[in-house]
Parts: sequence; C-alpha cells; structure tokens
Amino acid sequence: MKLIQAKNYEDMSEKAAAYIIKQVHSKSNSVLGLATGGTVIGTYNRLVEDYKQSNTSYSNVHTFNLDEYVAMPRSDQNSYHTYMDKQLFRHINLPEDQSFLPDGMANDLQEECQRYERLIKDSGGIDLQLLGIGQNGHIGFNEPGASFDSVTHIVNLTESTRKANARYFESIDKVPTQAITMGIATIMKSKKILLLVSGESKAEAISRLINEPIHNNNPSSVLKNHPDVTIIADEDALSLIKREQKEVLSL
Ligand code: PGA
Repeated sequence: MKLIQAKNYEDMSEKAAAYIIKQVHSKSNSVLGLATGGTVIGTYNRLVEDYKQSNTSYSNVHTFNLDEYVAMPRSDQNSYHTYMDKQLFRHINLPEDQSFLPDGMANDLQEECQRYERLIKDSGGIDLQLLGIGQNGHIGFNEPGASFDSVTHIVNLTESTRKANARYFESIDKVPTQAITMGIATIMKSKKILLLVSGESKAEAISRLINEPIHNNNPSSVLKNHPDVTIIADEDALSLIKREQKEVLSL
C-alpha cells in the first residue's frame, strides 16, 4: 500500500482526480470502478471541471459502481443511479450505455448479482477501482464479517451503516435495509485500487486498516493483500497514525 498524504478534503479530491485523469489518459478505454458517498463528491467535481477545461474524453471508458440499494427506484433522489448522474455522468461525455450500476429493482436479485459480476468480467475487468471506507471498515457494502471470497451479492445493511447514511434521508427508518454490492473478491480483482479517506470520523477506520491484522471483521484490511493500492488521506483522517509510519507508507 502506498500512502499519499493530503492537507484537507480539497487537496485529497484534487490528488484523487489527478490520479483518475492520468489513468484515463494512459488508457482511453479504461474500465473504472466507482463509488458513492460524501468522500468522493469533491473528486467528481474536479473530474467535471477538468472535462470542461481540458476535454479529457470518457467516450471509450466503461464504469461499474460498487453498489446500489435494493427496492429503491432508479429515479429516487437517494438512489446511487441518481447520485452518479448528478455528480458525474450528465456532465461528461461518457455514453449512457457504458455506465453500469447493479439494478436493485430487478425481479430476480440473485440473477441480477450474477449478471453484474458477468458484465464486469466481460468488460475485461476493472482497471482502477475507487473506494471510500466506512467507519466500521466496510468497503462497498461489505460489512464486518463479509467473506473475502464474496462476489456481487445482496447484503443486509448494518445499523451503523444505516445510521451513517441517514443524513441523506428524512429519518433512519427510510434508509433501505438491503443493497446489492460488489463482493470483496470482485473488488480485489481490480488491477489498481484508489482508497480515499477524509476527516476525523474515519481516523479509527484507517488506523485499524494500517495497524490491525488482516481479518474479515475489518473488511478493508483485505486491501493489504492487493499488489497495487494507493491511499489518499487527509491530515484529520491520519491523526491516529504515527509520523514514522506515515513516512514509511509514503515512500
Ligand atoms: P462516505 O462513505 O464517503 O459517505 O463517508 C464511504 C463509505 O461508507 O464507504
């Protein structure tokens, strides 16, 4: 794992966008794995700015999102389809039929999970997967206890994840209880992984990832088994990591 230290959220977003743009420039038909949530919004804003200023082209890019809620219509303001459209897709020249999210409204959810996994495989696999991290160490919606062998599957969301996401809903009982998520094995098959971490609320999660042994009670710890992970984290997120350790990881 390589650590890139950022000053704050803006700096993290700037560095993350530069990393993604470099990927798209070096391989115009990149397959990008995308994430939702608060952490990555600044990165998407910068990708949009760059598209407007520099015309980085996404016409040959394919994207696969990590997850989507079950039983929430695509058009719902809280669906990840809506989020991606608002934050990124409608602003860049990514053809509509080249962006994919799981369909949480599918009649047969098991079949949908298999279809999604197949689509990723048929695309040639993900070149660069963007990730956030949950306060409980989740990646995608792979909650503590998730199997490291898991592929795209249906999950029951934990109370802590539903609480964290309740800020977008009228009340916690409106937060869905299930989602479809890429599994840990799906994520680990990506050629490169870019993990973004910002703010004090994530300090413990990133400290556990770095310092605790690899175990499925902390899903993010699996990233230590991946050969090409870059973490971009800001000062607040790194507040529990010792200076010497930050230096070693930044080499
Ligand atoms: P956040 O979510 O960016 O909204 O904190 C990240 C995650 O839960 O994976």
